[in-house]
Amino acid sequence: MAAPREKDKDNTKLMEKIVSLCKRRGFIFQSSEIYGGINGFWDYGPLGAELKRNLRDAWWRAMTREREDVLGLDATIIMHPDIWKASGHVDTFCDMMVDCKKCKGRFRADHVGDIACPEKPSKCVGECDGEKTAPRPFNLMFKTHTGPLETADNVAYLRPETAQAIFAQFKNVLDTSRQKVPFGVCQIGKAFRNEITPKNFTFRSREFEQMELEFFIKPDEAIEAVCGEVAVWSEDADLSIPQDNWGWEMWHRYWVDQRTKFYESIGLGADVLAYYWQTPEDLAHYAKACVDILFKFPFGTDELEGIAARGDFDLSQHQKYSGKPQEFFDEKLKAALADWDEDKQLAFTGAKVAAARAKLDATTSNPTEQDYAECEKATRQWCERFFKGWYVPHVIEPSAGLDRLALAVLCAAYDEQEKTDAKGKVERVEIMRVHARISPIKVGVFPLLKNKPELVTKAREVHQLLKAHMNCFYDETGSIGKRYARQDEAGTPFCLTIDFETLGEADASLKDTVTVRHRDSNNQERMAISDLLPWLLARVQ
Ligand code: GLY
Repeated sequence: MAAPREKDKDNTKLMEKIVSLCKRRGFIFQSSEIYGGINGFWDYGPLGAELKRNLRDAWWRAMTREREDVLGLDATIIMHPDIWKASGHVDTFCDMMVDCKKCKGRFRADHVGDIACPEKPSKCVGECDGEKTAPRPFNLMFKTHTGPLETADNVAYLRPETAQAIFAQFKNVLDTSRQKVPFGVCQIGKAFRNEITPKNFTFRSREFEQMELEFFIKPDEAIEAVCGEVAVWSEDADLSIPQDNWGWEMWHRYWVDQRTKFYESIGLGADVLAYYWQTPEDLAHYAKACVDILFKFPFGTDELEGIAARGDFDLSQHQKYSGKPQEFFDEKLKAALADWDEDKQLAFTGAKVAAARAKLDATTSNPTEQDYAECEKATRQWCERFFKGWYVPHVIEPSAGLDRLALAVLCAAYDEQEKTDAKGKVERVEIMRVHARISPIKVGVFPLLKNKPELVTKAREVHQLLKAHMNCFYDETGSIGKRYARQDEAGTPFCLTIDFETLGEADASLKDTVTVRHRDSNNQERMAISDLLPWLLARVQ
């Protein structure tokens, strides 16, 4: 392999500094570290746990609490194994794997050439040049058994994505809420993938957390029947307020826009994001479009979230495998189709059958007569249900990785500066410029001196006042400069110092005011204690 370019070396060093700060300050630890760790698993320390919680809350608030058309779900990790047959995971959720005949390491076939042996780093540091076996599929699902018998009948899987539970509970949510399509169901939770080569710190882990939305929409045919047209996306399309005539394309663009705005709201703007629109060759056969929102990590630009237009594939698969209808009855569609005569229905059905056959030709090599017959039968059945106002909803799926997002936030926040202290000594300091809305600690509260009971009492009062509303950190140890520096590393946007002015000893007009110090500008201002809470809440919520 070619020697790394200077830029790569810088980025490797930067990543090392971030990993080191994460460990030193308690953002992220290796799982089971005292036993030597376990590859592909990570724990979040006190600061990381707060950061993740804030990201989770921000996503949940944006995706469901602030909307009227998205509801939440909290499903189990282990589900009926047939779910994973219906979804295709049992048959196709595989990476191609190769064995190295020399080091006996196992590698993802597409990673060979850029990775050391993951399980035996001491034996294989660097590039292993051993001969590799032919690639073979390796299913990424973690398998277990339910109950005491380890038989084939009791096999179960740790979910490799949260999405399928949403599809499996679609009918229950629909029947128990007062929602009508279009509406969405979202979920945050753990997912597990037995990655062949976990890598890039927490980026590719074997246990991770997903934040997924399945947004159910009407098929374009229903939009056309009801509205007479399906809106066409253009660069200047207004995506701010959903419209009745939106088909899958506008809804897909809308969710890309919404998710971009979400990332901006937590400090990840256009400078650190990129987009990859999957090509027709990349797309699954049922998908209409998929865009990956990427983040510029030090180790490369890689995926934070995928936003896919998945058609009606998922619900249709569950309808087929479970035998339970997953259709929605659309009153407006029924009304709109009431005046379609038989000729119009026949013409519509004929066009649908022709389109389905063309799709079969495009997606299947050498379709048989039976394939054509089944395709036609399914299409005619779909048309019959459609004419009565029933259809299986289509779906737009924004699927984000929480751990990847936390890592992106930490990478974007990392900054280092040289500072000269009072004695002229230059030192390198690290500052985590985490957005105030998601920072683990919102405010540090310091008495200027710990041996002045009046200052300590007042600082404790301020801490007490604020801590009911936000995560605050009380610190009375070391110089004020050291205490600021500790909070800078933790990503705390504001610090408050309770000093002699607070006591009003020299200037009565300053009584009950504190020094507010801003992490990012290093500026300081005085503020009345009575103004602190609303001022802070406006910035940290
Ligand atoms: N549900 C999509 C994914 O897990 O990537």
